[in-house]
Amino acid sequence: MKRFLCVLLCGISVQLAAQTATYKELYRPQFHFTPAKNWINDPNGLVYYKGQYHMFYQHNPFGNQWGHMTWGHATSTDLVHWKHQPIAIPEANGTMIFSGTCVADVNKTSDYGKNGKTAMVAIYTGHQENINQSQHAAFSLDDGKTWTKAAGNPILDLHKKDFRDPKVFWYAPENYWVMCVMFPVEHLVQFYSSPNLKDWTHQSDFGPAGDTTGVWECPDLTEVPVAGEPGKTKWVLQTSQNASMQYFVGDFDGKKFTNENPAEIARPDYGPDYYAAICYGQLPKGHAPTAIGWMNNWNYANDIPTKPWKGTMSLPRTLSVKKENDRWVLLQQPIAALQSLRGKPFEVKNKEVYFFHDLPFRSQQCEMIVEMQPSLKNKSGVQLGVGSKTDLEIGYDPLEGVLYIDRMRTPDKTKTDKFYTFNYFTTPVKLKDNKLKLHIFFDHSVVEVFANDGEVVMSAQFFPDAKDNYISLFGSTEKAVFDQVRCWPLKSIWKP
Ligand code: FRU
Repeated sequence: MKRFLCVLLCGISVQLAAQTATYKELYRPQFHFTPAKNWINDPNGLVYYKGQYHMFYQHNPFGNQWGHMTWGHATSTDLVHWKHQPIAIPEANGTMIFSGTCVADVNKTSDYGKNGKTAMVAIYTGHQENINQSQHAAFSLDDGKTWTKAAGNPILDLHKKDFRDPKVFWYAPENYWVMCVMFPVEHLVQFYSSPNLKDWTHQSDFGPAGDTTGVWECPDLTEVPVAGEPGKTKWVLQTSQNASMQYFVGDFDGKKFTNENPAEIARPDYGPDYYAAICYGQLPKGHAPTAIGWMNNWNYANDIPTKPWKGTMSLPRTLSVKKENDRWVLLQQPIAALQSLRGKPFEVKNKEVYFFHDLPFRSQQCEMIVEMQPSLKNKSGVQLGVGSKTDLEIGYDPLEGVLYIDRMRTPDKTKTDKFYTFNYFTTPVKLKDNKLKLHIFFDHSVVEVFANDGEVVMSAQFFPDAKDNYISLFGSTEKAVFDQVRCWPLKSIWKP
């Protein structure tokens, strides 16, 4: 009997433990944002206010699958360490809280503020399944702690089934707010203006353009600096569709966005796991524009094997553009504050590699800067999460002139075959004097690769066992030369 009781109690405590977040679970990223438990998708309402970076996000408070969409909330003072906050805006009365923006109405343009208090205002899509999507507001008078849905909701309703993901920002030259919002099925970004966050006037539409293979979601329009030309800026419009994103670069006059790039599709990320990214609003003067995306893919998002949470946010990325030939190229860099997590560096110099070279540095939680002269005959690069039969490969293919991520040999722990139909990703990359520079972040189940100082970025998830932690440089019968490889173990941002 005693033994039976013990088995029973142990069983119960194991079950309870499985429900409680420890931040030490298998696959748990240690320097990327994840919720303690349950499902998340898009980042929402990224805004800087009173020294805090707020991050709201699509969240199911009741389970580890998409549903009951609610805005979760976290805050940070450095964009590296995050503090979980109580749920901000819950689903209610059959209306889910879909993606959107948060602004601090510091100029007191609306009547949401009271008694001289500045209102933080969330503008989001109210979603009634298969019936209606319209734009709603909620406000907070205590700096984001508690939220009240506006009495006048919806604030913009076209009686459409698909009409979502408002991105709102203050456009100073015209003294009004601008909203970009999606007509997903028509592949259109609509632009509206408002003096008071309540009354919205339609100004123009952009699209269809570029990738129209899936419904368009989550528009983001942000003014970004032109690299190396102080004072000069361009406007970057990003959209999410069919499990990937695209960007356009041009001008915005407060009413209309004009794309200056040629017709071919350009993506902020060429890997499988970067979606719904938006930029911070109301950053202090001189702060680089900064985006965060959701590191997952709707084709298998519900089936990834992580628990008790599901969903990881990308590292915050700063944005700028540069002109190359006839097109503007988006440059993205991981925020510099991440360097505060670096431990003791490990370095290799001038290493010629035929076939494989296992580094004596083993880790699933690290940053690497690899400067290499790839083989010009065969693939070469870096393998992460290497075990006896598994690895994720980041390499250069000289025959195609592409950077690639290959996760074919990683263990498929998802409950869907779809993960394996998305296993090989490529994008053209230019060698400079026959050299390639890779800046890699590997965090247990997510990898982000910034190539050639952020001209090309690729992000992917994979699910290695904890023991699969070798890192290998690889060439082939033809050598690759690794001029310099620097690796840093990175500290966890989560307290034990
Ligand atoms: C994008 C998206 C948005 C929507 C939200 C719902 O991933 O589909 O269009 O607002 O997720 O959770």
